[in-house]
Amino acid sequence: MGSDQLKVCIVGASGKLGRYMVRHALGKGYEVVGVCREKSVYKLDDVKDRITIVPGDTNNRDVIRRAVADCDAVLTVLVPWGMRQYSSGTAQAVLDFAPRGARLIFSCGWHITRDGKDVYSWKLKALVKILAALAPLIRVVDLNDQVEACNRIFASDTRWTVVRGSDLEEGPSEGLPVWSRHVGDPILASNRTRRVDYALFMVEAITNDDLVQEAPAIVGCQTPSALAHA
Ligand SMILES: NC(=O)c1ccc[n+]([C@@H]2O[C@H](COP(=O)([O-])OP(=O)(O)OC[C@H]3O[C@@H](n4cnc5c(N)ncnc54)[C@H](OP(=O)(O)O)[C@@H]3O)[C@@H](O)[C@H]2O)c1
Repeated sequence: MGSDQLKVCIVGASGKLGRYMVRHALGKGYEVVGVCREKSVYKLDDVKDRITIVPGDTNNRDVIRRAVADCDAVLTVLVPWGMRQYSSGTAQAVLDFAPRGARLIFSCGWHITRDGKDVYSWKLKALVKILAALAPLIRVVDLNDQVEACNRIFASDTRWTVVRGSDLEEGPSEGLPVWSRHVGDPILASNRTRRVDYALFMVEAITNDDLVQEAPAIVGCQTPSALAHA
């Protein structure tokens, strides 16, 4: 990585997770570039004097090319919204244009599996099945595209981490979440993480080389399952 002050691009900076990541990154003294849709720039008003904002769709390759230039790390919120390859387009642009050697951290849910060894509850399996079946009809959410995005990341030789979030909740920080390689591990059973701590895990991953080419599934460190299996 480059100079003392890391330069970090946050793709999807205006969302709930993104705004927490901006806050954590600024707290660490990082230089922050935020990418968000034009119509959402106002959501970053409180930090607009402290970060560089690059407005535009995150799957716009030109937008990403400009935003990630010279960055030491890129934190990307992968969202399955719409039916226009938003997740895979965003991931591909980040993979293609981030500087060689940069840390690339992506967010997604437990439903993503890297090696097929995750063990899912019937509830999660049913939810994913229903969403996948409804997707072509309602054309609002495309989980398959988030799967495609992650498969491209897993196949890349970049310094990636895919952080798989449990169910999320708001509330004050409880500390850095704990993680496991596989959903189904008893430590994850509580299936709950504060969103602010999910963001913390994403930002901390920048400097944690143990997470390079890992797909940690995370859970709040104060949840019963984390405390029982720590
Ligand atoms: N929600 C959960 O319970 C949950 C559970 C596990 C994992 N995750 C993961 O956590 C991450 C953040 O999810 P979140 O639910 O907490 O949401 P979030 O942080 O509020 O992020 C939503 C993002 O989606 C963008 N967005 C919304 N509608 C869009 C559209 N039609 N086209 C393109 N972009 C659109 C938003 O941008 P604007 O600001 O421009 O609207 C924002 O950047 C995701 O990677 C998700 O897979 C979430």
